Amino acid sequence: MSAMITHPFAERTELAPADYLAEAGTVFARFDALTQDSGNLSFGVAAGGRRWFVKSAGDPQDSTPFLPHATRVALLNNAQALARSVSSLVLPALAGVVGSAWGPMLVYEWADGELIHAPAERRSDPTTAFRRFRRLPPEQATAAIDAILDAHVELCRAGWIAGDFYDGSIIYDFEARQLRLIDLDSYHLGPTVNGMGRMFGSTRFMAPEEFELGARLDERTTVFNLGRAMAEYLGDGGLDRGGFRGADHQHAAMARACASKPSARFGAVAELTRAWRGEAARGGPAAGVA
Ligand SMILES: Nc1ncnc2c1ncn2[C@@H]1O[C@H](COP(=O)(O)OP(=O)(O)O)[C@@H](O)[C@H]1O
Ligand SMILES: [Mg+2]
Repeated sequence: MSAMITHPFAERTELAPADYLAEAGTVFARFDALTQDSGNLSFGVAAGGRRWFVKSAGDPQDSTPFLPHATRVALLNNAQALARSVSSLVLPALAGVVGSAWGPMLVYEWADGELIHAPAERRSDPTTAFRRFRRLPPEQATAAIDAILDAHVELCRAGWIAGDFYDGSIIYDFEARQLRLIDLDSYHLGPTVNGMGRMFGSTRFMAPEEFELGARLDERTTVFNLGRAMAEYLGDGGLDRGGFRGADHQHAAMARACASKPSARFGAVAELTRAWRGEAARGGPAAGVA
């Protein structure tokens, strides 16, 4: 778990999250069915001199969300296990969990910045964070991708395989130039088999095996997802050298990470990261090749 932070909330409440949080602090943001299709209900809350992101699985009586309440709670418990197993400054710290009438409330530190995700109909709007993030100068885009890689080297070391990683997992502070990763609730511990066919996720980031029933999902899948982030944020979304704004060795690392066949990719995120940074397999700087 990242740096220990003490939160000011009770250990347990018999109230529903919105009612409890209105009593315990000042609610300044609400993420509900208007913006989320997860069924989760989350809040930005100021309390004890700090800002918090408090996430709940929503109303157990509401049957409209796609996933039932018990499944949503299981995902929050998974997120809790993930937060406790890695220590990365790129992930907002989980300060604790508060029991409520609606199940667990996860108390995270608030991440300043803007969510990079934009709905499909707004993706060509130049004022969106989605577009501004893609216009960052190459050094800043590289630093942002470096943060994503650093976090994933940690996550992979703890055994986590990415699931549903996309722009909605990224908050970027354009002034402080700081990136945070959120909503990693669907990451899974250890390799699994695709039991869904087309999995949840954004097509722009998903590996071929995330569309194929029975396919193996492992660290090479994460390598692909991260290669796609490189193509999206330092390139034009494609794999061609022409549309890519980075160096040759970065382009080569991205292209290999995005190979259709898992066996043609890097075997580990740490290996992708070294190639991306122009370091040779054994650690020293490469002579201009990846
Ligand atoms: N730690 C955080 N700090 C600030 N805002 C956050 C934080 N985590 C999530 N958010 C915001 O809340 C929204 C909903 O959170 P998310 O974890 O994605 O929930 P859901 O499971 O409903 O998708 C995100 O899209 C983002 O805008
Ligand atoms: Mg989300």
